[in-house]
Amino acid sequence: MSLNWKDWITPRYSTDAIVQKVAEEFEYFDDDIVVSTYHKSGTTLTQEMISCLILGPEKTKNTALLRRSPFIDFYKHLPRDPMEEARTLPRPRVLKTHLPPAFHMRHLSDRSPDVGPKNVIVIRNPKDVVVSAFHHFTGTKLFDGKPIPDKFSEYWRSAIFQPGNVSHHDIFDFNRSWWSFKDHPRVFVLFYEDIVRNKADQVRKLAKFLGVELTDELLEATLDLTSFQTMRENPNVNYSIAERAKDDWKPGSNFIRKGEIGDWKNHFTVAENEEFDRYIAERMRGCDLKFTFE
Ligand code: A3P
Repeated sequence: MSLNWKDWITPRYSTDAIVQKVAEEFEYFDDDIVVSTYHKSGTTLTQEMISCLILGPEKTKNTALLRRSPFIDFYKHLPRDPMEEARTLPRPRVLKTHLPPAFHMRHLSDRSPDVGPKNVIVIRNPKDVVVSAFHHFTGTKLFDGKPIPDKFSEYWRSAIFQPGNVSHHDIFDFNRSWWSFKDHPRVFVLFYEDIVRNKADQVRKLAKFLGVELTDELLEATLDLTSFQTMRENPNVNYSIAERAKDDWKPGSNFIRKGEIGDWKNHFTVAENEEFDRYIAERMRGCDLKFTFE
């Protein structure tokens, strides 16, 4: 798998100057924490957990997500350039990106393994990711790439077999690529399903990786602020992806939508599921990363 970011440019990204700018110019600080995920894998939940641990529960509760944890490779619909936004943040910064690891190679390879930005990766099973993405992209008016198929059976095939058309990069290359860095001292891999099942455990591991002393109060506050219900009701999180809030979402659609493991069972037909299983097995051949589907 190529570690040259230029090889990762897809049809969708090839026109996005911001992506090339991030790859070439974004200046990371040694104390940055970078949440890197394939979209719909639990990014926001992980940003909130890290925000509580690093920036504190008060700031997490009272500041819009984008203001305290900018999405560095996303600029459409935002009032300010997110790279600029990131530049003005106090340190340590909690940053979000959906770019594959090749785009961050400079800070992983140019520096010593122990000194430099820390990367938190979240992996979620591809079936639930594609379901979550379907609801996201059909529920918001924000996506202005190619038209989004409004039938799930068309959507998932398009997103999986023609990545770059209706979603970002290829989910398998993305996760396999990060997985190959799982033993790097500055890389920590979380699984969405583990967070949903036992968040306290994952918060403890995260705090250890980030070097944060986790008191009982901080653990309690983190669990409280990152509960599904709290995040859904918090206007600083739900809908806040582009800050124009509810106007960007169709009535009844939610960014913080269901938060479950296995919603794919309500979307794929038996035949589609078998087809997807075969494809997943093919794409994950030779890789010891195992997804959790239920
Ligand atoms: P669903 O659409 O399956 O509900 P991302 O932040 O990467 O876009 O991921 C969004 C997914 O994470 C959505 O999944 C969302 O509901 C889920 N999520 C967000 N906050 C959550 C929480 N506190 N607990 C469980 N799932 C959460």
